[in-house]
Amino acid sequence: MKLLVTGGAGFIGSVVTRMLLDAGHQVTVLDDLRTGHRAALAPDATHVDLPVHEAAQVLTPDAGYDAVLHFAALIAAGESMVHPERYWHANTVSSIALVDAVRAARVPRLVFSSTAAVYGNPVEVPIPETAVKAPTNTYGATKLAVDLVLTSEATAHDLAAVSLRYFNVAGAYLRDGVAIGERHDPETHLIPIALDVAAGRREKLQLFGDDYPTVDGTCVRDYIHVEDLARAHLLALTAAVPGRHRIYNLGNGNGFTNRQVVDVVREVTGHPVPVETAPRREGDPAELVASSALARQELGWVPEKPTLTDMVGDAWAFYRSHVLEQS
Ligand SMILES: NC(=O)c1ccc[n+]([C@@H]2O[C@H](COP(=O)([O-])OP(=O)(O)OC[C@H]3O[C@@H](n4cnc5c(N)ncnc54)[C@H](O)[C@@H]3O)[C@@H](O)[C@H]2O)c1
Repeated sequence: MKLLVTGGAGFIGSVVTRMLLDAGHQVTVLDDLRTGHRAALAPDATHVDLPVHEAAQVLTPDAGYDAVLHFAALIAAGESMVHPERYWHANTVSSIALVDAVRAARVPRLVFSSTAAVYGNPVEVPIPETAVKAPTNTYGATKLAVDLVLTSEATAHDLAAVSLRYFNVAGAYLRDGVAIGERHDPETHLIPIALDVAAGRREKLQLFGDDYPTVDGTCVRDYIHVEDLARAHLLALTAAVPGRHRIYNLGNGNGFTNRQVVDVVREVTGHPVPVETAPRREGDPAELVASSALARQELGWVPEKPTLTDMVGDAWAFYRSHVLEQS
Protein backbone atom coordinates (compact mmCIF):
# COMPACT_ATOMS: atom_id res chain seq x y z
CA MET A 1 0.00 0.00 0.00
CA LYS A 2 0.98 3.62 -0.44
CA LEU A 3 0.75 5.10 3.05
CA LEU A 4 0.96 8.49 4.75
CA VAL A 5 2.17 8.33 8.35
CA THR A 6 1.70 11.52 10.39
CA GLY A 7 4.02 11.78 13.40
CA GLY A 8 6.54 9.36 11.92
CA ALA A 9 9.45 11.12 13.63
CA GLY A 10 7.97 10.34 17.05
CA PHE A 11 8.39 7.26 19.21
CA ILE A 12 5.47 5.13 18.03
CA GLY A 13 5.13 6.52 14.48
CA SER A 14 8.79 5.86 13.70
CA VAL A 15 8.56 2.25 14.90
CA VAL A 16 5.36 1.62 12.94
CA THR A 17 6.94 3.22 9.85
CA ARG A 18 9.79 0.72 10.01
CA MET A 19 7.46 -2.22 10.41
CA LEU A 20 5.33 -0.99 7.48
CA LEU A 21 8.47 -0.69 5.33
CA ASP A 22 9.59 -4.17 6.46
CA ALA A 23 6.20 -5.48 5.31
CA GLY A 24 6.79 -4.00 1.83
CA HIS A 25 4.61 -0.87 2.02
CA GLN A 26 5.60 2.52 0.58
CA VAL A 27 5.63 5.22 3.26
CA THR A 28 5.62 9.01 3.32
CA VAL A 29 6.09 10.55 6.78
CA LEU A 30 4.43 13.89 7.47
CA ASP A 31 5.96 15.43 10.59
CA ASP A 32 7.06 18.99 11.35
CA LEU A 33 9.43 17.72 14.07
CA ARG A 34 7.81 19.88 16.74
CA THR A 35 8.40 17.12 19.29
CA GLY A 36 9.95 14.40 17.11
CA HIS A 37 13.52 13.55 16.18
CA ARG A 38 15.09 13.74 12.74
CA ALA A 39 17.24 10.72 13.69
CA ALA A 40 14.10 8.63 14.20
CA LEU A 41 12.96 9.12 10.60
CA ALA A 42 13.25 5.91 8.58
CA PRO A 43 15.77 6.41 5.74
CA ASP A 44 13.55 4.42 3.35
CA ALA A 45 10.51 6.65 3.89
CA THR A 46 9.98 10.04 2.23
CA HIS A 47 9.81 12.83 4.79
CA VAL A 48 7.55 15.86 4.34
CA ASP A 49 8.14 18.66 6.85
CA LEU A 50 4.60 20.00 7.25
CA PRO A 51 2.08 20.41 10.05
CA VAL A 52 -0.88 18.02 9.99
CA HIS A 53 -3.36 20.77 9.14
CA GLU A 54 -1.55 21.21 5.82
CA ALA A 55 -1.77 17.53 4.88
CA ALA A 56 -3.86 18.41 1.80
CA GLN A 57 -0.60 19.52 0.15
CA VAL A 58 0.48 15.87 0.15
CA LEU A 59 -2.88 14.13 -0.03
CA THR A 60 -3.75 15.42 -3.47
CA PRO A 61 -6.49 13.59 -5.36
CA ASP A 62 -3.99 12.12 -7.84
CA ALA A 63 -1.40 11.04 -5.25
CA GLY A 64 -3.04 7.63 -4.88
CA TYR A 65 -2.65 7.03 -1.14
CA ASP A 66 -4.29 3.84 0.13
CA ALA A 67 -4.34 4.87 3.78
CA VAL A 68 -3.30 7.41 6.40
CA LEU A 69 -1.97 6.37 9.80
CA HIS A 70 -2.39 9.35 12.09
CA PHE A 71 0.01 9.46 15.08
CA ALA A 72 0.91 13.15 15.22
CA ALA A 73 -0.33 14.78 18.42
CA LEU A 74 0.68 16.51 21.60
CA ILE A 75 0.64 13.86 24.30
CA ALA A 76 1.33 15.29 27.76
CA ALA A 77 -1.84 15.02 29.84
CA GLY A 78 -0.53 17.39 32.54
CA GLU A 79 0.39 20.11 30.04
CA SER A 80 -3.03 19.72 28.41
CA MET A 81 -4.63 20.96 31.63
CA VAL A 82 -2.45 24.08 31.65
CA HIS A 83 -2.53 24.88 27.92
CA PRO A 84 -5.73 23.23 26.68
CA GLU A 85 -5.91 25.47 23.59
CA ARG A 86 -2.65 23.98 22.27
CA TYR A 87 -4.15 20.51 22.55
CA TRP A 88 -7.48 21.35 20.90
CA HIS A 89 -5.62 22.87 17.96
CA ALA A 90 -2.82 20.30 17.58
CA ASN A 91 -4.95 17.25 18.23
CA THR A 92 -8.53 18.02 17.23
CA VAL A 93 -8.58 20.97 14.82
CA SER A 94 -5.60 19.52 12.90
CA SER A 95 -7.23 16.09 12.75
CA ILE A 96 -10.42 17.58 11.30
CA ALA A 97 -8.33 19.25 8.57
CA LEU A 98 -6.64 15.89 7.94
CA VAL A 99 -10.00 14.13 7.62
CA ASP A 100 -11.12 16.85 5.17
CA ALA A 101 -7.99 16.17 3.10
CA VAL A 102 -8.56 12.41 3.26
CA ARG A 103 -12.12 12.91 1.98
CA ALA A 104 -11.10 15.31 -0.79
CA ALA A 105 -8.35 12.95 -1.97
CA ARG A 106 -10.61 9.89 -1.66
CA VAL A 107 -8.16 8.04 0.56
CA PRO A 108 -10.11 4.92 1.56
CA ARG A 109 -8.64 4.15 5.02
CA LEU A 110 -7.52 5.96 8.15
CA VAL A 111 -6.00 4.47 11.32
CA PHE A 112 -5.96 6.82 14.31
CA SER A 113 -3.92 6.77 17.53
CA SER A 114 -6.53 7.14 20.24
CA THR A 115 -5.85 6.58 23.92
CA ALA A 116 -6.99 4.99 27.17
CA ALA A 117 -7.32 8.57 28.44
CA VAL A 118 -10.74 8.80 26.72
CA TYR A 119 -12.23 6.63 29.49
CA GLY A 120 -11.28 8.77 32.47
CA ASN A 121 -11.88 7.02 35.78
CA PRO A 122 -13.24 3.66 34.63
CA VAL A 123 -16.36 2.16 36.16
CA GLU A 124 -15.37 -1.34 35.03
CA VAL A 125 -11.87 -2.87 34.90
CA PRO A 126 -10.56 -4.26 32.57
CA ILE A 127 -12.03 -1.55 30.37
CA PRO A 128 -13.98 -2.63 27.26
CA GLU A 129 -14.41 -0.28 24.27
CA THR A 130 -18.08 0.15 25.22
CA ALA A 131 -17.21 1.65 28.63
CA VAL A 132 -18.34 5.16 29.50
CA LYS A 133 -16.09 7.79 27.95
CA ALA A 134 -15.47 10.57 30.49
CA PRO A 135 -11.92 11.91 30.07
CA THR A 136 -10.41 13.50 33.17
CA ASN A 137 -7.90 15.55 31.19
CA THR A 138 -7.99 17.76 28.11
CA TYR A 139 -5.61 15.46 26.22
CA GLY A 140 -8.14 12.60 26.50
CA ALA A 141 -10.99 14.92 25.52
CA THR A 142 -9.18 16.08 22.36
CA LYS A 143 -8.66 12.45 21.33
CA LEU A 144 -12.25 11.45 22.10
CA ALA A 145 -13.42 14.32 19.90
CA VAL A 146 -11.42 12.88 16.99
CA ASP A 147 -12.91 9.45 17.60
CA LEU A 148 -16.37 11.01 17.29
CA VAL A 149 -15.37 12.81 14.08
CA LEU A 150 -14.22 9.50 12.62
CA THR A 151 -17.46 7.73 13.49
CA SER A 152 -19.52 10.28 11.59
CA GLU A 153 -17.02 10.46 8.73
CA ALA A 154 -17.12 6.67 8.28
CA THR A 155 -20.90 6.59 8.38
CA ALA A 156 -21.54 9.56 6.09
CA HIS A 157 -18.64 9.28 3.65
CA ASP A 158 -17.76 5.58 3.63
CA LEU A 159 -14.32 5.97 5.19
CA ALA A 160 -12.80 2.74 6.54
CA ALA A 161 -11.70 4.08 9.93
CA VAL A 162 -9.97 2.38 12.84
CA SER A 163 -9.16 3.95 16.21
CA LEU A 164 -6.61 2.11 18.30
CA ARG A 165 -6.83 3.12 21.95
CA TYR A 166 -3.38 2.55 23.36
CA PHE A 167 -2.76 2.08 27.03
CA ASN A 168 0.83 2.86 28.20
CA VAL A 169 3.30 2.21 25.42
CA ALA A 170 6.77 1.04 26.44
CA GLY A 171 9.81 -0.92 25.24
CA ALA A 172 11.87 -0.15 22.16
CA TYR A 173 12.40 -1.37 18.61
CA LEU A 174 15.79 -3.09 18.32
CA ARG A 175 16.42 -4.72 14.99
CA ASP A 176 19.14 -4.93 12.33
CA GLY A 177 21.27 -2.35 14.11
CA VAL A 178 18.36 0.12 14.40
CA ALA A 179 17.24 1.14 17.88
CA ILE A 180 14.25 3.37 18.51
CA GLY A 181 12.92 4.19 21.92
CA GLU A 182 11.10 6.82 23.90
CA ARG A 183 12.59 10.32 23.96
CA HIS A 184 9.95 12.87 24.85
CA ASP A 185 11.02 16.34 25.97
CA PRO A 186 10.00 16.96 28.63
CA GLU A 187 9.61 13.26 29.41
CA THR A 188 6.41 12.54 31.32
CA HIS A 189 6.34 8.74 31.07
CA LEU A 190 7.29 6.64 34.07
CA ILE A 191 9.68 4.08 32.55
CA PRO A 192 12.05 6.47 30.72
CA ILE A 193 12.11 8.75 33.77
CA ALA A 194 12.91 5.78 36.05
CA LEU A 195 15.70 4.78 33.64
CA ASP A 196 17.10 8.30 33.88
CA VAL A 197 17.20 7.92 37.66
CA ALA A 198 18.75 4.43 37.42
CA ALA A 199 21.44 5.86 35.12
CA GLY A 200 22.17 8.65 37.59
CA ARG A 201 20.97 11.43 35.28
CA ARG A 202 18.16 12.44 37.64
CA GLU A 203 18.41 12.42 41.38
CA LYS A 204 15.07 10.80 42.17
CA LEU A 205 11.74 9.77 40.77
CA GLN A 206 8.56 11.55 41.79
CA LEU A 207 5.53 9.32 42.34
CA PHE A 208 2.46 11.45 41.85
CA GLY A 209 0.08 10.42 44.60
CA ASP A 210 0.28 7.47 47.00
CA ASP A 211 -3.28 7.65 48.30
CA TYR A 212 -5.14 6.15 45.35
CA PRO A 213 -7.44 3.18 46.08
CA THR A 214 -4.88 0.64 44.76
CA VAL A 215 -2.73 -2.05 46.44
CA ASP A 216 0.12 0.32 47.30
CA GLY A 217 -1.62 3.66 46.81
CA THR A 218 0.09 4.51 43.49
CA CYS A 219 -1.64 4.57 40.10
CA VAL A 220 -2.16 1.35 38.15
CA ARG A 221 -1.42 1.28 34.43
CA ASP A 222 -1.42 -1.34 31.67
CA TYR A 223 1.76 -1.44 29.55
CA ILE A 224 2.08 -2.55 25.94
CA HIS A 225 5.31 -3.15 24.01
CA VAL A 226 5.72 -0.75 21.08
CA GLU A 227 6.38 -3.66 18.69
CA ASP A 228 3.13 -5.37 19.70
CA LEU A 229 1.36 -2.06 19.19
CA ALA A 230 2.93 -1.67 15.76
CA ARG A 231 1.77 -5.13 14.73
CA ALA A 232 -1.81 -4.14 15.60
CA HIS A 233 -1.55 -1.25 13.12
CA LEU A 234 -0.62 -3.58 10.29
CA LEU A 235 -3.59 -5.79 11.16
CA ALA A 236 -5.91 -2.77 11.43
CA LEU A 237 -4.97 -1.61 7.93
CA THR A 238 -6.25 -4.82 6.40
CA ALA A 239 -9.25 -5.15 8.74
CA ALA A 240 -10.62 -1.66 8.01
CA VAL A 241 -14.04 -1.79 6.37
CA PRO A 242 -15.58 1.05 4.28
CA GLY A 243 -18.39 2.81 6.12
CA ARG A 244 -17.35 1.50 9.53
CA HIS A 245 -15.38 2.99 12.38
CA ARG A 246 -13.83 0.13 14.32
CA ILE A 247 -12.38 0.87 17.75
CA TYR A 248 -9.97 -1.38 19.64
CA ASN A 249 -8.26 -1.10 23.01
CA LEU A 250 -4.63 -2.19 23.01
CA GLY A 251 -3.09 -3.26 26.28
CA ASN A 252 -2.08 -6.49 27.98
CA GLY A 253 -4.92 -6.69 30.49
CA ASN A 254 -2.44 -6.58 33.41
CA GLY A 255 -2.16 -3.60 35.68
CA PHE A 256 1.06 -2.59 37.45
CA THR A 257 1.31 0.07 40.11
CA ASN A 258 3.91 2.78 39.66
CA ARG A 259 5.88 1.26 42.56
CA GLN A 260 5.84 -2.18 40.89
CA VAL A 261 7.17 -0.64 37.67
CA VAL A 262 9.99 1.02 39.60
CA ASP A 263 10.83 -2.36 41.20
CA VAL A 264 11.15 -3.91 37.71
CA VAL A 265 13.41 -1.02 36.63
CA ARG A 266 15.62 -1.66 39.68
CA GLU A 267 15.77 -5.40 38.85
CA VAL A 268 16.51 -4.96 35.14
CA THR A 269 19.11 -2.21 35.51
CA GLY A 270 20.69 -3.41 38.75
CA HIS A 271 20.73 0.21 39.94
CA PRO A 272 18.93 1.96 42.79
CA VAL A 273 15.97 4.20 41.91
CA PRO A 274 15.25 6.59 44.78
CA VAL A 275 11.61 7.74 44.86
CA GLU A 276 9.78 10.58 46.54
CA THR A 277 6.04 11.01 46.85
CA ALA A 278 4.59 14.11 45.23
CA PRO A 279 1.00 15.39 45.14
CA ARG A 280 -1.45 13.80 42.70
CA ARG A 281 -1.43 15.23 39.15
CA GLU A 282 -4.70 16.76 38.10
CA GLY A 283 -6.61 14.47 35.76
CA ASP A 284 -4.75 11.20 36.55
CA PRO A 285 -7.19 8.28 36.88
CA ALA A 286 -6.40 5.71 39.61
CA GLU A 287 -6.47 2.64 37.38
CA LEU A 288 -6.34 2.07 33.62
CA VAL A 289 -6.28 -1.55 32.51
CA ALA A 290 -7.45 -2.64 29.06
CA SER A 291 -9.65 -5.40 27.87
CA SER A 292 -8.17 -6.09 24.44
CA ALA A 293 -10.47 -9.07 23.84
CA LEU A 294 -11.97 -7.39 20.77
CA ALA A 295 -8.58 -6.76 19.11
CA ARG A 296 -7.66 -10.37 19.75
CA GLN A 297 -10.96 -11.65 18.30
CA GLU A 298 -11.43 -9.34 15.33
CA LEU A 299 -7.84 -8.48 14.37
CA GLY A 300 -6.25 -11.76 15.48
CA TRP A 301 -3.81 -9.65 17.50
CA VAL A 302 -1.63 -11.53 19.99
CA PRO A 303 1.00 -9.63 22.01
CA GLU A 304 4.43 -11.26 21.66
CA LYS A 305 6.19 -9.26 24.38
CA PRO A 306 3.62 -8.97 27.19
CA THR A 307 5.92 -8.86 30.22
CA LEU A 308 7.10 -5.71 31.91
CA THR A 309 10.58 -7.25 32.14
CA ASP A 310 10.69 -7.49 28.31
CA MET A 311 9.53 -3.90 27.93
CA VAL A 312 11.89 -2.42 30.53
CA GLY A 313 14.74 -4.61 29.22
CA ASP A 314 14.31 -3.28 25.65
CA ALA A 315 13.85 0.30 26.86
CA TRP A 316 17.07 -0.03 28.91
CA ALA A 317 18.99 -1.46 25.92
CA PHE A 318 17.88 1.54 23.83
CA TYR A 319 18.65 3.92 26.67
CA ARG A 320 22.19 2.61 27.12
CA SER A 321 23.01 2.64 23.40
CA HIS A 322 21.31 5.87 22.34
CA VAL A 323 20.76 8.11 25.31
CA LEU A 324 23.79 7.44 27.50
CA GLU A 325 26.36 6.86 24.76
CA GLN A 326 25.31 9.86 22.72
CA SER A 327 25.13 12.32 25.59
N1 LIG B 1 3.22 7.09 24.13
C1 LIG B 1 2.14 6.55 24.69
O1 LIG B 1 2.23 5.85 25.71
C2 LIG B 1 0.77 6.78 24.06
C3 LIG B 1 -0.37 6.25 24.71
C4 LIG B 1 -1.62 6.45 24.12
C5 LIG B 1 -1.74 7.13 22.91
N2 LIG B 1 -0.61 7.63 22.31
C6 LIG B 1 -0.76 8.35 21.05
O2 LIG B 1 0.19 7.84 20.12
C7 LIG B 1 0.60 8.88 19.25
C8 LIG B 1 2.12 8.92 19.16
O3 LIG B 1 2.66 9.09 20.46
P1 LIG B 1 4.25 9.17 20.67
O4 LIG B 1 4.54 8.69 22.06
O5 LIG B 1 4.92 8.52 19.54
O6 LIG B 1 4.47 10.75 20.64
P2 LIG B 1 5.74 11.58 20.12
O7 LIG B 1 5.65 12.90 20.78
O8 LIG B 1 6.99 10.77 20.30
O9 LIG B 1 5.48 11.74 18.57
C9 LIG B 1 4.55 12.63 18.03
C10 LIG B 1 5.10 13.09 16.69
O10 LIG B 1 4.11 13.90 16.03
C11 LIG B 1 4.71 15.09 15.54
N3 LIG B 1 3.67 16.12 15.57
C12 LIG B 1 2.89 16.45 16.63
N4 LIG B 1 1.98 17.34 16.26
C13 LIG B 1 2.17 17.58 14.95
C14 LIG B 1 1.51 18.37 13.99
N5 LIG B 1 0.44 19.11 14.33
N6 LIG B 1 1.97 18.40 12.72
C15 LIG B 1 3.04 17.63 12.35
N7 LIG B 1 3.69 16.82 13.22
C16 LIG B 1 3.26 16.81 14.49
C17 LIG B 1 5.87 15.37 16.46
O11 LIG B 1 6.88 16.17 15.86
C18 LIG B 1 6.36 13.95 16.80
O12 LIG B 1 7.33 13.51 15.88
C19 LIG B 1 -0.03 10.17 19.75
O13 LIG B 1 -1.17 10.44 18.96
C20 LIG B 1 -0.44 9.82 21.16
O14 LIG B 1 -1.57 10.56 21.57
C21 LIG B 1 0.64 7.49 22.86
